[in-house]
Amino acid sequence: MATRTQQPRNADGEFASKRRRSGARGSNGNRSNGGSNKSGGLFDWGGTTTGALLSAAVAGAAVVVAANLGRKLIVQGMSGTAGDWDEVLAAEHDMALAIFDKMLATDDTQKIKRGMLLTKLTHALDKHAHEEEMVVYPALREANDKVDADHLEQEHGDMKTFLFRLGEMPTDSPQWLDVVREFRDEVAQHARIEEDEVFPRFKAEISADQNKHITSLVNKDGFLMA
Ligand SMILES: [Fe+2]
Ligand SMILES: [Fe+2]
Repeated sequence: MATRTQQPRNADGEFASKRRRSGARGSNGNRSNGGSNKSGGLFDWGGTTTGALLSAAVAGAAVVVAANLGRKLIVQGMSGTAGDWDEVLAAEHDMALAIFDKMLATDDTQKIKRGMLLTKLTHALDKHAHEEEMVVYPALREANDKVDADHLEQEHGDMKTFLFRLGEMPTDSPQWLDVVREFRDEVAQHARIEEDEVFPRFKAEISADQNKHITSLVNKDGFLMA
């Protein structure tokens, strides 16, 4: 018992002596001292190991967070630094159309490449649609342009249907390129209406501060989705 109480005291000064005093109050030595020693002894042992494990977990989590942050910065940096919200979105249109072009340059033997490009396209369109549906289209509705906002959002639904169709289709299907071509045409037409008609008209109606605010919201949403 002496050794049991000495070790925590030597190793843990005041904490151990407090434990020892509260343990001495109970008369049922083993259970009480066991609890005390368990706390003191295991505290030292557990403190070191748990601390090491915790440090490793925190370090691991930090690496994951840093890697994810880096990835987001890279992904978002590709469009998020392009300027105002409408320029950011136009840059994303170009990026999506470039992915389509790579898809159209494949043949039926390049199944893996097609699958990878489809994943890339899905992510790009998902992020882009989120920015528009969570920021730009609601702002359009607030500025009394509900008709355009609703029409454009409905077209996003059509694009998701194309993504679903392609996802369900074998990548070596003889129809794969036709569907991709039709899909690209829809996206290009949708992007043209946004870039040439809806966005410039809306931008002309809002103040410089509102423009800056919408840019900030689009960038934040893009970062979240990257
Ligand atoms: Fe859109
Ligand atoms: Fe768009």
